[in-house]
Amino acid sequence: MSPDLTLAIPVVDYQHDKILHFIESLKHRAATRPEVIQAIDDYTGRHFIVEEELMAAHAYPDLQRHKAEHDYLKGKIGGLLDAMGKDEIAGSKAIAEYMEAWLLQHIQTADRPMAEFLKQRGVASPA
Ligand SMILES: [Fe+2]
Ligand SMILES: [Fe+2]
Repeated sequence: MSPDLTLAIPVVDYQHDKILHFIESLKHRAATRPEVIQAIDDYTGRHFIVEEELMAAHAYPDLQRHKAEHDYLKGKIGGLLDAMGKDEIAGSKAIAEYMEAWLLQHIQTADRPMAEFLKQRGVASPA
């Protein structure tokens, strides 16, 4: 992962790296079955829960707004997948590009301030 995306919270960085790699591989395929997008969406949903639990455990003041962003993406991707239809394979590239752009923006504007707060609370890289 490029250094400008690293937040120095190991579990968060690991999951971001994994999600972005999955999405990157999708972007280079002409089409993908909806189940593949669904699997990435499921993993991303579990990542969001990890962040939300960390924020809750450390009483992060901006938790609700951050969670609302996560809920927005989950709703958006769910809607796009529904619109896609279960046998359709076209459109997956556009969803992957949407997810990537959204996540890159969210990491910089929401996850980064969250990570700064968590590091002040002692949640940090053991290195
Ligand atoms: Fe987040
Ligand atoms: Fe994140």
